[in-house]
Formats: sequence, C-alpha cells, structure tokens
Amino acid sequence: MSTKTVASEVATEPSGAPRGKYPPGPNSGKRGKIGGQLGAVRRDPLGFFTHCARTYGDITAIRYFNFRSFYINNPEYIEDVLVNNARKFHKGPVLQANKGVFGEGLLTSEGNFWLRQRRLAQPAFHRARIAAYAETMVGYTERHLEMWHDGEERDIHEEMLRVTLQIVGKTLFDADVARDAQEVGKSLELLLELSADFARDILIPRWLPTPKNIRKARAIKKLDKIIYRIIEERRKSGRDAGDLLSMLLAARDEDGSRMTDKQLRDESITLFLAGHETTANTLSWTWWLLAQNPAAEKKLHAELDSVLGGRAPTLEDVAKLKYAENVLTESLRLYPPAWGLARLAIEEHEIAGYKVPKGTGISIAQWVMHRDPRWYEAPEEFRPERWEDGLAKRLPRFAYFPFGGGPRQCIGNTFALMEATLVLATIAQRYRFRLVEGHPVVPLASITLRPRHGIRAVLEARRLKSIHMASLPTEES
Ligand code: HEM
Repeated sequence: MSTKTVASEVATEPSGAPRGKYPPGPNSGKRGKIGGQLGAVRRDPLGFFTHCARTYGDITAIRYFNFRSFYINNPEYIEDVLVNNARKFHKGPVLQANKGVFGEGLLTSEGNFWLRQRRLAQPAFHRARIAAYAETMVGYTERHLEMWHDGEERDIHEEMLRVTLQIVGKTLFDADVARDAQEVGKSLELLLELSADFARDILIPRWLPTPKNIRKARAIKKLDKIIYRIIEERRKSGRDAGDLLSMLLAARDEDGSRMTDKQLRDESITLFLAGHETTANTLSWTWWLLAQNPAAEKKLHAELDSVLGGRAPTLEDVAKLKYAENVLTESLRLYPPAWGLARLAIEEHEIAGYKVPKGTGISIAQWVMHRDPRWYEAPEEFRPERWEDGLAKRLPRFAYFPFGGGPRQCIGNTFALMEATLVLATIAQRYRFRLVEGHPVVPLASITLRPRHGIRAVLEARRLKSIHMASLPTEES
C-alpha cells in the first residue's frame, strides 16, 4: 500500500507554516459531485477508506454535501484526536443521529454528563466484578449447545447472537427476565438493521414519518416499555442481583446522587446493544477464519485439549489459553467489530499542519489501519502466530485499537475478551464448523462490522470423549 501524501488542494507552505486549506482528497482540483463522497461511502465504506489511504496518504479531505471531514490514517494523528485532544471532539454525526435509541447513554453522551456516568458505571466493569460472570458465560454457552447436533447446518452468526444475548441478558438483567432479554434483543437487532444505512441516518431527520422511522420508533417504544418495567421492579425489590443493573442502581456520585430512571434506561440499552452484538461479531468472524485455516484450528484444539482435557473452562483457564488469545487478537485485527470511529471538532484544531475548523468531522478506520503493511507483514493473512513474540508492545499505540482509546475507550473490553475466550473454548472443544460452499460471506459495515448474509456452516462434533476419558484418573491410580 502506498502511503505517500500527494499534493494538497492548495500548495504546501514552507515547512513550519500552516499547509494548504484542505488535505488532498477526492475533491482536490475538481468541482466534483454535489453530494461529494456520500455515494461512495454509502456503497462501500471499507473499500472507500482503503482507497483514500492508498491514494492520498495519512490524511484525506472528504466532503458530504457541505459537510467537511478529515479521514486520518496515522497512529500519531489518531492519538492526537482520541487521547491528547479528546476534549476538543465530540462523537460523530452517525452516533448522534442514533440518540433516539441510545439516549444519553455512555456511548453517545458528552462532556461532564458523560464523565459522571462513566464514573458511576466504571465499578460494574472492574475485573473482580466481571470475574463473577465467567460461570454464567460458560453455563449459558453449554446450555445453548444442547440444541446442536452433529451434521446439522446452522447460521453461526445467528447462533453467536443468541449466545451473547443470553449472556448479556443474564449479567445485565438477571435470569428472571430471560424472556424479556429475547424481546429486547429482537428489537435491538431490528434497530441495528435499520441503522445499516448510516448516511441516510444523517440526512433524514428522525421526526420525519418515513416507513423506516416509524418502524424504528415502534422498536424503541417496545424496548423502553420492557426496560422501564425491569428498572421499576428492581427498584421496588431493592434486591442486589449481582448484575450490572444492580450496580448501576446502587452507584452514587460524589455528591451522593443516583441515576434517574431515564439515565438507567439509556445506560441499559447502550450496554445491552454494545455488549452483545460486538462480541457476537467477534466470535462469528473467528469461526469463519478458523474454518478456512485448518492449521490454526488444529493448534487451538491441541491447546484446549491439553489445558482443559474436555472439562468446562473457568476464569483461571483464560490466562492459560495463550493461543486462543492470539486467535482472538488476530480476528479483531482483521475483522474489527467497530471498524471505524468518528468525531466532530467542537473547537478549532490542527492536524498535520492543516487547520481543522470547528464543525469538521474526523473519520478513523480500524479496518484500514489494521491491514496496513507498515505494521503487519502479509496483512491480509490470518496468522495468530504473529502475536507470539510481543508484536503488540512494538506497535504504535494506534496501529491496533479494536476497542478505541483515550477517555472514550470501550468500557467493556475486559468483559468482551473474557466472554469471547470462554465461549470460544467451550464451543471449540465440542464442535468445529465446515463452511457451506457457495454461501457468500460478505462484511457489512454499518455501525458495526457483521456478516451481511450470516455464515452458514455444518456442525461437526469433535470426538473428545477419548481425550476426556484418558485424562481421568483410573481406579487403580
Ligand atoms: C469485541 C467486543 C467489543 C468491541 C470490539 C468494542 C468496541 C468499542 C469501541 C471501539 C468503543 C469506542 C467508540 C468510540 O470511541 O467512539 C467502544 C465503546 C463502548 N463500549 Fe465496547 N466493544 C466491545 C464490547 C463491549 C461490551 C461487552 C460492552 C459492555 C458490556 C461494551 C460497552 C461499551 C460502552 C458503554 C462504550 C462507550 C464508552 C464511553 O464512551 O464511555 N463494549 N466499544
């Protein structure tokens, strides 16, 4: 991939002085289409950003009608925006357009309100608290596997969504609302589907009664009803169910104040959505990659057989499953569920010598950075081994960032990695997947990156019994 920067729209000034008004980009030196790059981004966002990085270098000027955005593809520029100058930027227009769903939850809120909520929610994600969920994660996966049979054809993505939904339902809302969790999941999936066309989300106002907006409003109403009822019941009972909702209900700010029902609703929906679909995507892409890489699959099986010998994984095993960790790290590199991030400048800033006026968008694409040959040898190949000799420590901080970074970094990263490892270990001990030939597996880049048509595969039961029996002590021993 060529990363050289081509001539900018306005001639570059002598070194040190501000450069041209805009970085190079598809609009340079021509009048272009009235909508700018909106059509191209809508048609193929992954291809579009890859093309920009290859053609224009580390910073590209993009335009959607009269909205200007800078796409940055350099780890230092990204650190500058997400970490060093985070207070100068808000979340981008796509997330803002989805405030009808997320409200003022952690993902979408800003400023002091966000900071207060983040502080309130943080204890619910401490390692010790999350550790208590390990058993739930394994137990719910095993329960799900009871429905599977050798030789059956299933949509793996659909299956992973169900498993992670059940896990988030239990850890967030507790088991007594398992049926509601299903309803919540279905409505959330519909909302995600309706948000797939993100450009449309920005252009068409939420209040306009289009068929899509009406369906969206209905799904939100359904969700709200369930969530508010759960909150009310829990408040009344005063019970500490040991789940995230209990933590949020008990959380107090420094001044002693607690979250209102509306805040609890917004946080619950945000965590429910952020916490189930992303992890399901990670697992789905991982199964797909493993099914195409038999050597890696074999190595994973060997590790599981030697560490677990057929028994269910526990929290203590997570640190021992080194190859499984590398498999997931590599899967998150190639198919990052959060494939891109967006920000909006709320103050003027400067990047790479270019002025970033207030109101300019910033686009960042993990999808492109994670496949950049400057950091990765054979970047398109699935090679879990590349992480074995400390690559993570040698990379610039923002050459690999599936969970974002800076103050807005994913609050659920430890939860997600633990869950992904435990689910992967539980399932891979029992089954491998054989992909159904002819079924197209195509990434769909909406807010998250998921397989557009799912992933169809035949379940093949692994003959583990012999290993299991062999590892058990005999009567004589
Ligand atoms: C593999 C799984 C996951 C991935 C790849 C992922 C990725 C991300 C990324 C990239 C961000 C930053 C967004 C930005 O800067 O604009 C984020 C934020 C967030 N994630 Fe995750 N996430 C995952 C799992 C989870 C889980 C399991 C939870 C909760 C149970 C969660 C809850 C959140 C929340 C609440 C935020 C907003 C944090 C804030 O702004 O304070 N995520 N996630």
